[in-house]
Amino acid sequence: MRIVDLFAGCGGLSKGFQNAGFQIVAAFEFWNKAAECYALNFSHPVFTTDLSNIEEAVGKIQDLQPNIIIGGPPCQDFSHAGKRVEGSRAGLTEAYAEIVRAVRPKYFVMENVDRARNSCAFREAHAVFKQLGYGLTMMVLDASRCGVPQKRKRFFCIGEMGGADDFLRERLLAGQSSKDMTLRDYFGAALDFEFYYRHPRNYCRRAVYSIDEPAPTMRGVNRPVPKGYPGHPNDACPVDENVRALTTLERSLIQTFPADYHWCGSKTDMEQMIGNAVPVKLGEYVARTLKNYIERKNVVYKQPVELTFQFAETGFRQDFSEWLVEKMRLARRTAGDMASRVKRAHSIRLMDAGEETVLYLHRLSQCPEFRNLSPSVRSQIKRAVALYDEYLRATSYDRAEVPPRYGSHCS
Ligand SMILES: C[S@@+](CC[C@H](N)C(=O)[O-])C[C@H]1O[C@@H](n2cnc3c(N)ncnc32)[C@H](O)[C@@H]1O
Repeated sequence: MRIVDLFAGCGGLSKGFQNAGFQIVAAFEFWNKAAECYALNFSHPVFTTDLSNIEEAVGKIQDLQPNIIIGGPPCQDFSHAGKRVEGSRAGLTEAYAEIVRAVRPKYFVMENVDRARNSCAFREAHAVFKQLGYGLTMMVLDASRCGVPQKRKRFFCIGEMGGADDFLRERLLAGQSSKDMTLRDYFGAALDFEFYYRHPRNYCRRAVYSIDEPAPTMRGVNRPVPKGYPGHPNDACPVDENVRALTTLERSLIQTFPADYHWCGSKTDMEQMIGNAVPVKLGEYVARTLKNYIERKNVVYKQPVELTFQFAETGFRQDFSEWLVEKMRLARRTAGDMASRVKRAHSIRLMDAGEETVLYLHRLSQCPEFRNLSPSVRSQIKRAVALYDEYLRATSYDRAEVPPRYGSHCS
C-alpha cells in the first residue's frame, strides 16, 4: 500500500503510519521549516507545495499512485457554530476532498480538531466523499485512550472506496484503553518532576498539572511561569520554585515522538510543529487498526476441515491445556483453570466465524452476564481468551472456518 501524507507538518502522522508498517511514498507541506524537519526524519521525498493550488498538487500526487491518502488540513479557522464565517484555511479541508476526488485512493484518513466535524468546510468535504462512493467512519478519538499520555480529542474521517459506513468503528472502539494514560504510566521512573506548568489561554483555567494525570493538549506555544502568576483553585499544587514549564523536548515526548527524532528551526518553530502534530502513537493506533482491517479482508483461508469440526462440536480445542503446559510452561492445574475460563467466555458469548479476538473481547465485555462478574474474574477471563488466541495462532488454526453461530449469543 502506497501512502501520501498531505499537510504533513513535521511528520507526526507519517511516523505513526510508518511505525504501523505502512510505506509512505511522499509528503506535501508548504511551510518550509516543517518540511525541513520532516526531511530529517524520513527517506522519502517531502514536497514544499501549496495544496490550495489543487491542479498542481493533483498532478504531482497522481504520479505517485497512492492507494491511501492521509493528512490533517490546518484547523485554526473553524467556527464553532458551523456558520460560514470560517477563515481561508478551513478551505483546505475542501482542497483535501478535491484532491481525493481527483486521485480516488482506495482509502483515506483525514484528521482534524474535534469541532471540525460541525464546520461548513467539513460538510462540503463529506458531500464530496459520499458522492464518490466512500464508506465513512467518522469518530472523535481521545489520544489518552490510544497510548498517548495526553488529553487530546481529534476527529478522524476514514474513507474506504465502496465500503460500508462505520466499517472501522467497532475496531477503533475495541482497541482503546478503558482508562486515560498518565505521564507516569508512559514515562515510568524517567521523570524527575511531579508537577509542571502549562500556560493557560486565560487565568480562568488551571495551569499546574500532575504527572498522575494525562497532560493537557500540547498547543503550539510554550511559555514559562509568568512572574505574579495568580494561581488557580484547580491547580495540582501551588506554584513554587520547583514548578516549571515543560521543555520543548519534553513536549515532543508527550506528543509521543521518539527521543531520537530530529528537530530543527527556532524554538518557536519547533514548539509550533510539535503542537500541530498528530501524536505519533495516536496516528499509529489508527494506522494499525486500518491495517488489521485491510489484512483481514485479504486473508485466504485454508484450514483443514477436521479442525473445523472439532471446534464446532466442542466450541473449544481440547489440546489447549496440553499446549499451555508444554509451550507456556503453566502448571497443569493453572492450565485447566485457563481452559475453564475460555469455556466460561464461550458460554457467555460464542465467537463468530472469523471474528478477531480483539473484537470478540470487546463484544463479550458488552454482555450483561459478563459485566456482572467481578473485575478480577473479568480480567482472568480476558487473559485466558488472549492465551487461547495465541494458541490458535501458534497451531495455525483459523477460526474463519468455524461455522457461524453454533449456540446462543448474547445480543
Ligand atoms: C495540523 S498541521 C499537520 C500536522 C501533521 N499532520 C503532523 O502530524 O505533524 C497542518 C499543516 O498544514 C500546513 N499547511 C497550511 N497551509 C498549507 C497549504 N496551503 N499547503 C500545504 N500545507 C499547508 C501547515 O504548515 C501545517 O504544518
